[in-house]
Parts: sequence; structure tokens; C-alpha cells
Amino acid sequence: MRIAVAGGTGTVGHHVVEEVESAGHEVVALSRRRGVDVRNQVRLATALAGVDAVIDTLNVASVRRGPAEEFFKATSEALQACAADAGVRHLVTLSILGMEDVPGYGYYRAKLVQEQTMLAGPVGATVLRASQFFEFAAQMIALTRRGRFAVVPQMRSQPVAARTVARHLVRLAVEQPGGRHELAGPEVHEIPDVARRIAVARGERLHVVGVPFPGRAGRAMRNGALLARAGTEIDGPTLEDWLSAVWQKPDGGPDR
Ligand SMILES: NC(=O)c1ccc[n+]([C@@H]2O[C@H](COP(=O)([O-])OP(=O)(O)OC[C@H]3O[C@@H](n4cnc5c(N)ncnc54)[C@H](OP(=O)(O)O)[C@@H]3O)[C@@H](O)[C@H]2O)c1
Repeated sequence: MRIAVAGGTGTVGHHVVEEVESAGHEVVALSRRRGVDVRNQVRLATALAGVDAVIDTLNVASVRRGPAEEFFKATSEALQACAADAGVRHLVTLSILGMEDVPGYGYYRAKLVQEQTMLAGPVGATVLRASQFFEFAAQMIALTRRGRFAVVPQMRSQPVAARTVARHLVRLAVEQPGGRHELAGPEVHEIPDVARRIAVARGERLHVVGVPFPGRAGRAMRNGALLARAGTEIDGPTLEDWLSAVWQKPDGGPDR
């Protein structure tokens, strides 16, 4: 198969590209760094020529509802329209486990619009809702670090490795389109604790401050809204095994 990965240079997207290749398929990575802004339908249409399936791992820098919703609506509509014209058989979109149970958080509202737009389009679509990546804690450190301090959102999660998410996305892409699937890691962790464990594994002296989300969203996140529920598929590695595999590589592991 020929599989396009929208956001193929991102935190999870670059793993998807590697998983597509190692499964023996041809891959096309789409991102602005690769010369394709997905909102530019002329560029996108050219890039999707001959593609059988598209895996959408796009992300937007803002967590505010307005800009995030605008981005996910525009990119999903463009992917659906150009995929239909190109004869693409299947669109797979990555979303977030439990977000529908977290009220009042703009980014999650925008992700729901993304799901609805994808599922309403002419090309058969599948949604994978995954829990927070272990790498999300590293992203938060990179984003907020000031000297020896970093600020990480207080979220009770069942985090999963981005590589595992990538493997499931590729598995879904080669199957028939349809419905929502859920994926989480094997253990419950507080995301600031994951960040602390990453800092220790990297040999860094970092003080991680856990900051709760305000209001109803924060209460829901602290009370388990983001955890696996009946029917959620569970897949490893554990945090301990992920830390050993990623951070003890000779090159020190990826900085994300
Ligand atoms: N982080 C988590 O824990 C988590 C958990 C579950 C689900 N998710 C979902 O997973 C998805 C990916 O997250 P991530 O953390 O991997 O994102 P990321 O690291 O920020 O990567 C985003 C990717 O999108 C590309 N991109 C952004 N705007 C684009 C545009 N207009 N046209 C083409 N490419 C564009 C970026 O490349 P360029 O900058 O080069 O364009 C990059 O490759 C998100 O939708 C997120 O909601 C995340």
C-alpha cells in the first residue's frame, strides 16, 4: 500500500512513518517542513496521488478553542475533499481518550469537531482515541522549562508510548474503515510524575511543578476522565520499560 502520514514529522507522526516503512508499505510524509501545508488543497491533491490510506497525526500550536477548531476543521475538510478526489480508500485520525468527559477545555472541543468532520466526509474514516503519550510529558518540559523549573499539567492518565500508538494507527489503516477505537497504556500515572521520571532518566536536576487545570476540566482530569474504560485496548510498554528503551540509547534518545 501507499500510505500518507499527515504530520509525518511530528512527535507521533515520525514513528508512524517508520512503522509504515517497516510494515513494507510505501510512505509519503506530509508537513509544512516537507513542503505540504495540508490546508493548501492544490499541494495536498498532488501529494495524495496514488495514495491508498491517510493517517492524520496533525496538531496545532494553540490549545484555545477558536484557533484549534479552525485548524482541525480546515485540515479535516481538506483531507476528506482531496482524498475523495484522489480515490483514497481510508482516513485514520488520531484523537484523545476520554476527552468527551472533560467539559470546558477548548482544545478537546476542537478535537471533537475534528472527529465529527472526518467521520462525516465521503471517504471511510476511523478514529483512534489514545491516552497521553509518555512523550507528552517531555513536550511539556521542553515547552515550559525555565532554568531548573518546568510546569506540567496535573492529569491522571494511563500514558502510552507514541511508538505503540503509531503501530496501532498503521494496523487500523490497512483494515476496513469504520468507527472509534480506544488505546491506553498499562499503568495509571500523574503526568508531572512522568516528567520527573524522564528528568531523572536523563540525569537532569529539574524541579517539576504540577499545575491543575482550572474548573470543571481540571476536576474531571484529576478524577479519572482520561483513564481507560471498558473496551479500551491496553498496550505496553510500562513507563519503566519505555524509559530504559528510549533514554538509555547510545545517542541519549530523542529530545521530545
Ligand atoms: N500528545 C499526546 O499525548 C496526545 C495523545 C493523544 C492524541 N494526541 C493527538 O495526536 C496528534 C499529534 O500530536 P503530536 O504531539 O504528535 O503533534 P506534534 O508533535 O506537534 O506534530 C504535529 C505535526 O503536524 C504538522 N503540521 C502542523 N500544521 C500543519 C499543516 N498546516 N500542514 C501540514 N502539516 C502540519 C507538523 O509539521 P510542520 O510543523 O512541519 O508542519 C508536525 O509534523 C494531535 O492531534 C493530538 O491531539 C496527542
